[in-house]
Amino acid sequence: MEALGKLKQFDAYPKTLEDFRVKTCGGATVTIVSGLLMLLLFLSELQYYLTTEVHPELYVDKSRGDKLKINIDVFFPHMPCAYLSIDAMDVAGEQQLDVEHNLFKQRLDKDGIPVSSEAERHGNWELGKVEVKVFDPDSLDPDRCESCYGAETEDIKCCNTCEDVREAYRRRGWAFKNPDTIEQCRREGFTQKMQEQKNEGCQVYGFLEVNKVAGNFHFAPGKSFQQSHVHVHDLQSFGLDNINMTHYIRHLSFGEDYPGIVNPLDRTNVTAPQASMMFQYFVKVVPTVYMKLDGEVLRTNQFSVTRHEKVANGLLGDQGLPGVFVLYELSPMVVKLTEKHSGRTH
Ligand SMILES: *[C@@H]1O[C@H](CO)[C@@H](O)[C@H](O)[C@H]1NC(C)=O
Ligand SMILES: *[C@@H]1O[C@H](CO)[C@@H](O)[C@H](O)[C@H]1NC(C)=O
Repeated sequence: MEALGKLKQFDAYPKTLEDFRVKTCGGATVTIVSGLLMLLLFLSELQYYLTTEVHPELYVDKSRGDKLKINIDVFFPHMPCAYLSIDAMDVAGEQQLDVEHNLFKQRLDKDGIPVSSEAERHGNWELGKVEVKVFDPDSLDPDRCESCYGAETEDIKCCNTCEDVREAYRRRGWAFKNPDTIEQCRREGFTQKMQEQKNEGCQVYGFLEVNKVAGNFHFAPGKSFQQSHVHVHDLQSFGLDNINMTHYIRHLSFGEDYPGIVNPLDRTNVTAPQASMMFQYFVKVVPTVYMKLDGEVLRTNQFSVTRHEKVANGLLGDQGLPGVFVLYELSPMVVKLTEKHSGRTH
């Protein structure tokens, strides 16, 4: 009996006095308010638990010899694909002709609607080869060897097409001035082709893979060549006054996207107020490592950019060429972003 009495004292919920059991309005209010408060706290803690935090870290880049992937999607509403050329160069000032490239050019009519559904591949950094069937190539001897008009080199001995002549001229560093005096170009209707596309625009999309060193790539009218170590474009085939470098950058990035990336140039429209403008984008590429929660590691890049524009009145590289130039540099620091959950016990 005595033991039971002792046990009774352990009753954790002593019965309250009768007074405390009276229900009041004030009491109910306190109950509701505190209940809501608890719910609120629970939900906010739950939300905090479910969101992932991203912790940034900074260290010096020790990786070497990687490739840099540049994703491009740019519209030139007043620059025909037949005129536009795209070159990539690295710090050495040398054209990277052998980089892996997957760039396409899409002709756009003057309202910005694609001309044909099939985009041309931008091969060998050449101007787009648009087939205008003014002659039948099969009617020519396949083993023929036509003149390069004095521009023959070791690797180019025969120039059987207008494009071959242009390429031979380019390697020699000669300007390609009068296509009508060149038999190959006349029969291919080179001038007509240029005329035909005169009011068109061009979309360039795809990606470039370049060495991970500073460099530049540009979109400029005319075929490019080196003349006394200066980068030159042959613009003679169309007047400088007709060059409207208005452009719309739909997308430009250096590597893959990670969640929350901001590509500062995406969806920017730049109107050229004058003819023959040179737009320069100075880009600082920041290598970024993104560690996902599930352990996946994404090696990519962010970038910051400043734009500079001027009127280019010369045809020589040092006086400025009309076109859109992207000059990129790599930062020696890597940003590492790590996704983190707050602990489960929390
Ligand atoms: C920029 O131009 C493109 C096409 O030229 C158009 O679709 C887009 O809406 C424009 N964007 C802005 C912000 O004006
Ligand atoms: C280039 O075209 C845009 C329209 O897309 C126009 O606003 C601008 O004035 C043109 N610039 C020149 C120099 O013709």
